[in-house]
Amino acid sequence: MEGIITIYITGDTHGDPGRFFEPALPCQDWTDKDKLIVAGDFGCIFGLGLTDEAKLDRLSQCTYEILFLDGNHECFPKIYSYPEENWCGGRVHRVRRNIRHLMRGQVYEIEGMRIFTMGGGYSIDQMYRIPGRSWWPEEMPTDAEYEEGLVNLRKARNRVDVIISHAAPSQSMQYLKQQGIFSVVFPQEAPLGAYLEKVARLTEHRHYYFGHLHMDAELPENRTALYYALYCLNTGKKIAGPTA
Ligand SMILES: [Fe+2]
Repeated sequence: MEGIITIYITGDTHGDPGRFFEPALPCQDWTDKDKLIVAGDFGCIFGLGLTDEAKLDRLSQCTYEILFLDGNHECFPKIYSYPEENWCGGRVHRVRRNIRHLMRGQVYEIEGMRIFTMGGGYSIDQMYRIPGRSWWPEEMPTDAEYEEGLVNLRKARNRVDVIISHAAPSQSMQYLKQQGIFSVVFPQEAPLGAYLEKVARLTEHRHYYFGHLHMDAELPENRTALYYALYCLNTGKKIAGPTA
């Protein structure tokens, strides 16, 4: 999209730098103003010292900007150790020149597009993970983060262009259960799903994107589950990825 700043979005990248370059990502012509949002489980900050740094250094060579929500598979203490800044009307952690963490409950105005973000989610594989090494309790949002989101939405008069979360809103989970795609809805994540559904109901928006479920699918009520697919937020069109 020549001359226009474009914002793209994809799903969980799980610490794979290959997801940010050709041929996985058709980014050859992307400019330093273009942006890619990862809807959680970025995974390149996992408390792995030199490995993390090597991945982030590689990603800092991308021509475009990377904006990521946190998911559930992240090293939260390390993400929170990066300097916090105000950016496009919301709070971010600045990780590299071109890499920012979009924090929970924020409303950003990016290139004229108003975006609400809420990271976090429940790890269903928690029992196989080691606290402080491969799992962190900060994965689920706190009451203060929920409240900050509602306050920021009120300031935006409950009107945004796009809502992005890592976890799915409860009605979308219910729909997937009815379709037989998911048989279990984890009760531990229910408060987050209910909150996200409430946000969707009280906020005027044209589209809702989320990650977490490791599937690409178009869902009712202008909702999209993201994994490998790439969408353009400006047009709402799918640019690349599997057909759902
Ligand atoms: Fe994931």
